[in-house]
Amino acid sequence: MLRQLPDADDVVEPDPVGGPDHPMRQVTRQVAFEDGWSPGRAAKVADLFDSMAAGWTADHSGDVRVAPLRDALRRGDLDPGGCWLELGSGTGVGTVELVGTVERLVAVDLSAGMLANAPDVAPRVRADASVLPFPDAAFDVAVLVNMLLFPAELSRVLAPGGKVVWVNTLGDRTPIHLPPADVISALPGGWRGVTAKAGSGFWAVFDRAG
Ligand SMILES: C[S@@+](CC[C@H](N)C(=O)[O-])C[C@H]1O[C@@H](n2cnc3c(N)ncnc32)[C@H](O)[C@@H]1O
Repeated sequence: MLRQLPDADDVVEPDPVGGPDHPMRQVTRQVAFEDGWSPGRAAKVADLFDSMAAGWTADHSGDVRVAPLRDALRRGDLDPGGCWLELGSGTGVGTVELVGTVERLVAVDLSAGMLANAPDVAPRVRADASVLPFPDAAFDVAVLVNMLLFPAELSRVLAPGGKVVWVNTLGDRTPIHLPPADVISALPGGWRGVTAKAGSGFWAVFDRAG
């Protein structure tokens, strides 16, 4: 079940970058639905983001892009207590928003270059989100901003009552994009969600149903 909230006041059309023909689209769907991840693909993705790391924050930040995450924190019925995990934290565009709000946060990324360009505001761990170095049920909330979805591993590290925050900052034009209904169908077991548009994108918050 997916509940749609009214749009935030600041909704704008995203820039026409990305879109359904972007090469990362196919990777995103293969990872979420077809177990399409391998050491070779991980190395290529890490190299790709290493090469973009220096200019990433300048090109991917600003109020309109950060608006969906801010709106999720405002309207997503999220408890700022407990332990939060940010997957694919990149250069920290989302991390800096989260540290002001949540009690404890661990930021994880595959790319050493992205992590090296992130501010030192939360513990940063270089790891592959398909094989996380954390015990089962270690986190209360997991945040993914424009990040690949590894459904089984995400579900493993989330506490039974845990929540997933899914943000695509350019909406359905985001290169790494899945609509909320597809996230629900990819996650193992039954999940439900609430979603809304804000800024140039959307957010969704999911938890296990029942
Ligand atoms: C599109 S960027 C988004 C970065 C950041 N969340 C933002 O919105 O600015 C995707 C990030 O996910 C990371 N990433 C991709 N695959 C990953 C994996 N398997 N494990 C951890 N991080 C990964 C990349 O290195 C990159 O930093």
